[in-house]
Amino acid sequence: MCGIVGYVGKNKNALHVLIDGLKALEYRGYDSAGIAVINDDKIKIVKSHGKIKNLEEKLNEVDNSYIGIGHTRWATHGKPTEVNAHPHKAGSVTLVHNGIIENYEELKKDLRKQGYKFKSETDTEIACALIDSIYKTSNNKLLTLKKANEMIKGSFAFGIIFDNDINNIYSMRKDSPLIIALGDNENYIASDVPAILSFTNKYILLDSNEYAVISEDKIDIYDNNLNLINKDIKEYEGTKEVVMKNGYEHFMLKEIHDEPKVIENTFKQFIKNNDINELIDNMPDLSKYDNIDIVACGSAYHAGLIGKSLIEKFADIPVNVELASEYRYKKNFNNEKTLTILVSQSGETADTLAALRKAKQNGTYTLGIINVVGSSIAREADSVLYIKAGCEIAVATTKAYLAQVLILSLITINKAISNNNISKEKAKLILEDLKKLPNMIDDLIKEKEKFEIIAKNIYKDNNIFFIGRGVDYAISMEGSLKLKEISYINSQAYAAGELKHGTISLIENGTPVVAVVTDENIAEKTISNIKETKARGANVILITTQKLNEKYGDSDFYDQKIVIPNISEFFTPILAIVPLQLIAYEVAKLRGENIDQPRNLAKSVTVE
Ligand code: AGP
Repeated sequence: MCGIVGYVGKNKNALHVLIDGLKALEYRGYDSAGIAVINDDKIKIVKSHGKIKNLEEKLNEVDNSYIGIGHTRWATHGKPTEVNAHPHKAGSVTLVHNGIIENYEELKKDLRKQGYKFKSETDTEIACALIDSIYKTSNNKLLTLKKANEMIKGSFAFGIIFDNDINNIYSMRKDSPLIIALGDNENYIASDVPAILSFTNKYILLDSNEYAVISEDKIDIYDNNLNLINKDIKEYEGTKEVVMKNGYEHFMLKEIHDEPKVIENTFKQFIKNNDINELIDNMPDLSKYDNIDIVACGSAYHAGLIGKSLIEKFADIPVNVELASEYRYKKNFNNEKTLTILVSQSGETADTLAALRKAKQNGTYTLGIINVVGSSIAREADSVLYIKAGCEIAVATTKAYLAQVLILSLITINKAISNNNISKEKAKLILEDLKKLPNMIDDLIKEKEKFEIIAKNIYKDNNIFFIGRGVDYAISMEGSLKLKEISYINSQAYAAGELKHGTISLIENGTPVVAVVTDENIAEKTISNIKETKARGANVILITTQKLNEKYGDSDFYDQKIVIPNISEFFTPILAIVPLQLIAYEVAKLRGENIDQPRNLAKSVTVE
């Protein structure tokens, strides 16, 4: 996802603010960067391919400035090159953009007829020329932005500087996130809060179809009728430390170490005094629904699969889990008795946002399980449960995934109580286990040497299998994604019972097979499948519970094992993923990969 930063003010050098802000947004993933500042009353643009340090090496050509816009680009239209990097300039308009202009080819044809020539392959340059062409006739900046908003199909967050107004930054957005941050005699725009946390924690969320004009001492925001409006000023709870590594080598490792605290923060929102009735009061009432759709992408989808397993087993409600990118284009069989749950860390994932809108059009009630406060999905869902995982910087999600699963577990416990599937006494024991969960996670994280040994054993392999049944299959899917997205090793998760229907042909001597066996009801079946792989030379890494280890641990169907403590089965999936996150981390480290910003990936995919 692209990153936008803008500054206008008296107290700082805009160049430093832009570079510092873009560095704080590096976690979103990018492949080129650029800035535009005013020098001697003229716009000066400097861009570079690759990382921000390449851009910094070119900045000696630029003098200090009091106003500027900056951008990190995650290529969608056109290769990651300097020409395609932002900012783009057309006529009197300089612009940075996050999002996708879906009708850019149609606009380009018309602009070409007006005499515009284009240097880049980007949709952004088209938007820039469009705004310039409208402004030439309207001679009114706000009217120009409104008209451009009407003509552009797709998603955008823009930061704009006009040649003839070098004291203001203009912004508008449709779907792609943008905030306006407030300082003393200085103001900012940014795609996300981390970009400005060094300078201020006060910010305004610009909504779609709103327009902002910011100067050093003024912020004017207009609605779609171009009336001035007031907006709430929010204060970000975190600090710059939140986006710093605090001594850890990688954000991913820091965020795994945050997990015990995150789990506590997540459940303490709903259960402050260890009273199960608090949970019942604070969780959504599912009694109105006879079926549930959980819609998400990536790890959030895997969290949904865990939710399905628990809700169907304990809450007796059928759950359909869909990839948002599939859901949004397929026929859906939902209605007013359907609860649609959208799971998303960023709350900005384009496919999940589109799925939310489709579910609402179909008349279903929508619940967001979201991390980023005030994000698009959080604001458009009928209700939202915030997971309170804090700012997650590493592209590979860890703490937020755990918190998503926990929220789904709490929703299940609540429904199981109201269904009388579990007694309040049983529920109290479950809550006792919940209180132990943070320390259990902490103890697992401390078994670092075990994960390093396993990682050393497999990091040179090119194909690694994950297998499990039922909820263990869902855990395997997340473990596999963690490994492949940061180590680039080809890894797949398979339903253990499915291996003999084709996939087992891929197992050869030494092939690593990570086997997750935590579900007692089907442990024997999974162990049989593990033995089938072992018989063909697999190098088996077993993840199991203390209880199952006592029953099956003496056997020779595995080569290495990680034993997780016994806990209520509502929380076992949370414990089981921690070793898989850490093994993935250690493997990627041994392979020397860019763990926090894996190639080709972005923290939040705000484009289709
Ligand atoms: C997970 O490690 C990946 N970064 C990715 O699969 C992510 O879970 C997915 O893009 C969904 O993001 P969201 O939770 O912000 O919607």
